Amino acid sequence: MEKMLKLLKLIPVVLLLIVTQGNAQQGGMWIPSLLEGMNETEMKSLGCELTAKDIYDINSSSLKDAVGHFNGGCTSEIISPKGLILTNHHCGFGQIQSHSSLENDYLKEGFWAMSLAEELPNEGLYVDFIVRIEDVTVNVLDSVLDTMTEEEKQVQISKNIEAVKEAAKKEEWQNTKVKAFYKGNQYFLFVTERFEDVRLVGAPPTSIGKFGSDTDNWMFPRHTGDFSMFRIYADTNNRPAKYSKANVPYQPKHFLPISLDGVAEGDFTLVFGFPGTTDEYLPAVAIEHITQEYNPSNIAIRDAALKVIDAQMQANDEVRIKYASKQARIANAWKKWIGENLGIEKTNAIADRRVFEATFTKALKEKRVEAKYSHILPQLDSLYKDFAAINIKRRNFVEVFLITNELMKMTYRAYQLVEMINENPEEFEKHIKWMKNQLEGVHKNYDVNVDKAVFSNVMPFYTKNVNASIYKKTSFTDLEKALVLLEGDAKQVIKKLNKDVAYAYAKPMIVAYDKEIDVLYQEKKLQIEALEKEYMQALMEVLPQARYFPDANGTLRVTYGQVRGYSPRDGVYYNPVCYLEGVMEKYIPEDYEFDVPQKLQELYKNKDYGQYADANGKVPVCFLGTNHTTGGNSGSPTIDAYGNLVGLNFDRVWEGTMSDMNYDPEICRNIMVDLRYVLFIIDKYAGATHLIEEMKLVHPKRK
Ligand code: ARG
Ligand code: GLU
Repeated sequence: MEKMLKLLKLIPVVLLLIVTQGNAQQGGMWIPSLLEGMNETEMKSLGCELTAKDIYDINSSSLKDAVGHFNGGCTSEIISPKGLILTNHHCGFGQIQSHSSLENDYLKEGFWAMSLAEELPNEGLYVDFIVRIEDVTVNVLDSVLDTMTEEEKQVQISKNIEAVKEAAKKEEWQNTKVKAFYKGNQYFLFVTERFEDVRLVGAPPTSIGKFGSDTDNWMFPRHTGDFSMFRIYADTNNRPAKYSKANVPYQPKHFLPISLDGVAEGDFTLVFGFPGTTDEYLPAVAIEHITQEYNPSNIAIRDAALKVIDAQMQANDEVRIKYASKQARIANAWKKWIGENLGIEKTNAIADRRVFEATFTKALKEKRVEAKYSHILPQLDSLYKDFAAINIKRRNFVEVFLITNELMKMTYRAYQLVEMINENPEEFEKHIKWMKNQLEGVHKNYDVNVDKAVFSNVMPFYTKNVNASIYKKTSFTDLEKALVLLEGDAKQVIKKLNKDVAYAYAKPMIVAYDKEIDVLYQEKKLQIEALEKEYMQALMEVLPQARYFPDANGTLRVTYGQVRGYSPRDGVYYNPVCYLEGVMEKYIPEDYEFDVPQKLQELYKNKDYGQYADANGKVPVCFLGTNHTTGGNSGSPTIDAYGNLVGLNFDRVWEGTMSDMNYDPEICRNIMVDLRYVLFIIDKYAGATHLIEEMKLVHPKRK
């Protein structure tokens, strides 16, 4: 009886974190090497026919061998025996843009290599694959003592990590890295392979690949063909290699067959990729700070920047091409933060989190571990309140100096250059080369009028001293003049920099950031992280019946769920699948967001769909699932119950972007483009049938 009562008291927690089996609605991003047991059972109950070993195996090929971390920020998957990979259009955007010019506008027209010889190399682009994952917690936490300060612990941990990497068994061309999980309560070693010859194979025009642009971003119904294709090349031994003409298409250990049968509501879906960051175990006070202070301040700065960038991009084609990537990056997080706030408010997430904390506190008493853990929540509360102001101040600097305004970014790089020269004068030549790269990077896509207007709009968020006249005299806004600043010896360079009006204007603010603001921020952050580590440990100890997945940290994860619609607000229900019909409904001739290419209109008019229509004769475009995804999952394969590719993950719904802090099965949905739409565009729209022939198309549902 007593036990029963205790259990009853725990019900709110159980509701928050545990999900009953057989229920499609759950969150979680799981470590692929640890799926046996709970995850395997749960996947099965959702309709999955794969075993844990089909997904991750180190002795024979498995699904994981087909999933690559694309350029460190997105996910990609291999879809042919010749190293053909698929990722999102917005993940390949930078590469597509860099091959584009007014004459060859691949952003606008799309790009299709009709033979291997036409595939375009991309300097700096790489794809990483996971060879093996190993739990190395015991080694990494060896000799890390409770009596040590946080700094001392960090030093010991870093030392241990180096030793673990050193001792790891690997081939000479492979790499190792160690990552913290569960806030540093667990550590895993990753042995990886990096391919650096990755060539652009195909991309639809932006009017397909980014159809709906900012208006539709983070929204459903969605009608975007957000895909692009690359090919991995290897040396003649099929090993990773830098770009070379002599390289050949990579022969993968595994590639994903593609299902032509698609999905229906309730079907099992597994999304396999590299989610970047989540914060699922934050205390209420942190969610409050993020949604009520941090997000609004970031949104305001980006609002101000986007106002001018958007207007000038629409007025001028050259500016449009130059600022396409930058604008997309700025607008993407801006809209996400707005949605995140919306979701947190709508679901009363902060109040719920407080209720949960009360339950946690009660459980501490019941388990008689108050002495060990009861300090955690009160301390986090006061630490976060103390942290709020410096966090905002620091972030404002980042937003203004590093993200939105490019002149300030160049002065910041110049400041770093001077620091580097002072610290390490004998490497002067190397530092100058680094700075040249920085300047060339900015000027590749720079328009001084846009930047000056951004300056006037965003600078007031950081200082009262807004002086746009620096644009008249500074050398930084003209690449040739800027490079002259770097001529001469160290003394001369530093002298010239100090004389530049923009540098002189920015320097006191940069110094304050570097020597005070950031230092204070890091100090407080370290304290918070140490407590959050304890909190995580306490949660798992006193509420062991809940299910805990480690926050995303850029490592390979599995998230599973089912195809499901949702209700964004009262009286409205979104079906889980949408069709080409919807593209045509949204069509606005000549509009920069909703134009539809002539060829696509014709295919639609003639119902020329080939093998890509569903049983009702319609081409599915996008669908929704309950998979728990985040930034970095872009381009992740959506795999059906049998191990075939059915979709390409690229977004979440607006009300659900709060899933980074608070996954709620009612409204958190990921958005995927249906593979049949991808194939339809490649085949019927672009006529790149040679690519279709390379793939393995299957009918799993027909058997
Ligand atoms: N919101 C998605 C993500 O976070 C898609 C972004 C690309 N699409 C766009 N319209 N900007 O990356
Ligand atoms: N579009 C996101 C990305 O670039 C993925 C969607 C999300 O954040 O859920 O990674």
